[in-house]
Amino acid sequence: MPHAELDQIVFRKLHMGDHAAFEAHLIALDPDSRRTRFGMATTDAFLVQYAERCITLNAIIHGAFLGETLVGVAELRPIGDLFTGEAEMAFSVLADWRNCGIGTALFARALRSARNRGFGRLYMTCLKNNAPMRALARKFSAEIVVEIDESVALVEAPRRSIISIMREALDDASAFTTLALDWQKRALARKRLVAEPASR
Ligand SMILES: CC(C)(COP(=O)(O)OP(=O)(O)OC[C@H]1O[C@@H](n2cnc3c(N)ncnc32)[C@H](O)[C@@H]1OP(=O)(O)O)[C@@H](O)C(=O)NCCC(=O)NCCS
Repeated sequence: MPHAELDQIVFRKLHMGDHAAFEAHLIALDPDSRRTRFGMATTDAFLVQYAERCITLNAIIHGAFLGETLVGVAELRPIGDLFTGEAEMAFSVLADWRNCGIGTALFARALRSARNRGFGRLYMTCLKNNAPMRALARKFSAEIVVEIDESVALVEAPRRSIISIMREALDDASAFTTLALDWQKRALARKRLVAEPASR
């Protein structure tokens, strides 16, 4: 069974070009994970539509990549207009990669994005018996107030600071540089393939 070390994982925000990876991630969730993630049973068709809609709307989606595979996702979506200060958060990590800290790292990043955008109240679908999600949220109890009822968790996020804004900007800049280098490497490899056709 695959199991990731945290230092093998690349964390970065998703962009439109990650649509296929996002869809594949959601489809790969088993029925129980889909139920805890969405608070209800979901079909593949629903997830295909959801991925399409979500990546084009004003959601901020943080991803955890192991190579090309999107093993974990944190979604942050404003509720109503930007000025309500409220957003929805949701998390999913593929079953084979759980319990190695990916969810915690994604939570920290989503929380920082929420903070930097002035979202003070965050809502999460969190079924009463979702022990891993509760355990994860508890890790942040020094920074945030979490109230969990039957099916929803309410998180009161801290206010932004210049340091939290700088850290997010630095992470984005370094992820962008890595992506740009990766595209360049692929473009060079493609060029080499065209220039050196198979000799067999
Ligand atoms: C919730 C979820 C995102 C956590 O992801 P993860 O990568 O496993 O998270 P982490 O490894 O960072 O931390 C999980 C914590 O839960 C704890 N945990 C796991 N199973 C547990 C259980 N049954 N009871 C209590 N704690 C549990 C782990 O020990 C760990 O805490 P630790 O680091 O102090 O040991 C993942 O389980 C998931 O995708 N679940 C399905 C979707 C879902 O429920 N989403 C949340 C609602 S939106």
